[in-house]
Amino acid sequence: MADRKTNDATLREAGELIHTRLSDKRYAHTLRVVETVERLAALHGLDEYRTRLAALLHDAAREMGAEEFLRLAEEWNLPVGEPERKSPMLLHGPVAAEMARRELSIEDGEVLEAIRVHTTGAPEMGLVALAVYVADAIEPGRAYPSVGHLRKLAEEDLQDAAAEALRRDVAHDEERGRETHPVSRETLRWLESQS
Ligand SMILES: [Fe+2]
Ligand SMILES: [Fe+2]
Repeated sequence: MADRKTNDATLREAGELIHTRLSDKRYAHTLRVVETVERLAALHGLDEYRTRLAALLHDAAREMGAEEFLRLAEEWNLPVGEPERKSPMLLHGPVAAEMARRELSIEDGEVLEAIRVHTTGAPEMGLVALAVYVADAIEPGRAYPSVGHLRKLAEEDLQDAAAEALRRDVAHDEERGRETHPVSRETLRWLESQS
């Protein structure tokens, strides 16, 4: 009961935090990701609280500027590689996870991982992280051609769905002559070795 109360309070605080930091559009996206992850959690028997909390916070830092990402990453000792220096927006996951820890005292490793890796994925990522990654890609506001297929896959297997979403991202990057984050490629190799 005490746990339940703490969980509810944390969810409320997380909701308030993103409400003040995000535009209406991004806030609405976040709520659709939460709704989607709730469904995936029920289907795949995942912890409802952790998946909801991670989904609520995944884009909490998304609307900061490039300089702020780099400044916070340095201040908080977050790893910044060449891809992040070129595209500081890649830091919005790691920065949001650290914000969740600092501002909301969230220490749950699975929740923090899910927030941290939701942009690139990560080899060995856990089920909560997979669910948030997939929910972000298939929430009802997404309308790319293969989203229907991905939604179906997500009901069957989260690793297969994440692999498919990553393959799509890689193809998309190639089409646009953009580099894919090496961690995304590693994640895809890891996921493909699992099936
Ligand atoms: Fe994001
Ligand atoms: Fe998102």
